[in-house]
Amino acid sequence: MKILITGIFGQIGWNLAHAARNQGHTVVGTYHNQRVESTFPVYPLEMMPHKLEHGLRLLPFLPDVILHCAAYTNVDKAESERPKVFAINSLSSNPVVSYARSIGAKLIYLSTDYVFDGLTGGYTESSIPFPRGVYGLSKLLGEAPVLAYKNGFVIRFTPLGHALRLPHHPLSLMDWILKCYRDGKKAPLFFNRTSSPVTAMDLWNVIDEILAGRQTQALLHVHSDLKDLLQIGREIEKVFLLSHTTTYGFLSHNNYSKIRPFLAHLKSNYLKPVSLNESLITLKQQRKSHEA
Ligand SMILES: NC(=O)c1ccc[n+]([C@@H]2O[C@H](COP(=O)([O-])OP(=O)(O)OC[C@H]3O[C@@H](n4cnc5c(N)ncnc54)[C@H](OP(=O)(O)O)[C@@H]3O)[C@@H](O)[C@H]2O)c1
Repeated sequence: MKILITGIFGQIGWNLAHAARNQGHTVVGTYHNQRVESTFPVYPLEMMPHKLEHGLRLLPFLPDVILHCAAYTNVDKAESERPKVFAINSLSSNPVVSYARSIGAKLIYLSTDYVFDGLTGGYTESSIPFPRGVYGLSKLLGEAPVLAYKNGFVIRFTPLGHALRLPHHPLSLMDWILKCYRDGKKAPLFFNRTSSPVTAMDLWNVIDEILAGRQTQALLHVHSDLKDLLQIGREIEKVFLLSHTTTYGFLSHNNYSKIRPFLAHLKSNYLKPVSLNESLITLKQQRKSHEA
């Protein structure tokens, strides 16, 4: 298939691009400020709603599938940049949907557990969203036009860590724990916060099912089987053979937690939980093979 990835040099876009190409798909990407030398054909494209559809039509590539990964992802900064965040994460979905509809392409929008308030956790696709911050709200609004399109899909998830990491990518949970270990520091993990993180490979496995037409649910939660952050950290410790790196942490009510869900683990009515242990083992092997 011909796959267009927006935000190809972002954490998810970069990993999905490699996963798709490894399976024989043709991948073309769009980028914004950060450009990296790569073997993928890439084109600049800004996610500003007024000129986006025109920009998509100018690409010398007619995709069968669009993986819409470009987004404003700085959760804290988003609070003071509302118009920009809503333009990129919410309003841009309209031209992307319009373009996908006009060429009959499948469209997959990546979304987040931040659409929930985090008071109870265990959110399924039928749970009612209630975002705490601007970022979560902007993503929720960006989902709607995609879900209204018959070939549109929304995948909500939380990232754990990925096989490939570019120098400009922020540290994932997993990389932060690995860094703490290397620096001889303790990694405090909030025992009062839950999460169900997955890797880009776990996302790709679901996307692959969508592309093959075996998965037809428009809204999907991709999630793992553990939910306690400390337990998740201990699993990372076990698989990566780090000793005594994680420790108890407590998330209090502050500016950080005000705009993030506390009990954020997802569940799904349609997908089985991913085994965190198996995902980590695969990730470790992938990292080793990339380093070799
Ligand atoms: N990271 C997370 O914790 C997380 C969690 C759940 C869901 N998601 C979702 O997963 C998707 C991928 O996220 P990610 O982790 O890969 O984020 P990321 O690493 O921040 O990548 C986002 C990409 O979007 C591009 N972008 C930002 N503003 C843009 C604009 N105005 N025009 C065009 N491109 C723009 C960025 O390019 P530049 O850097 O060049 O600006 C970057 O390549 C997003 O939809 C995000 O909401 C992320």
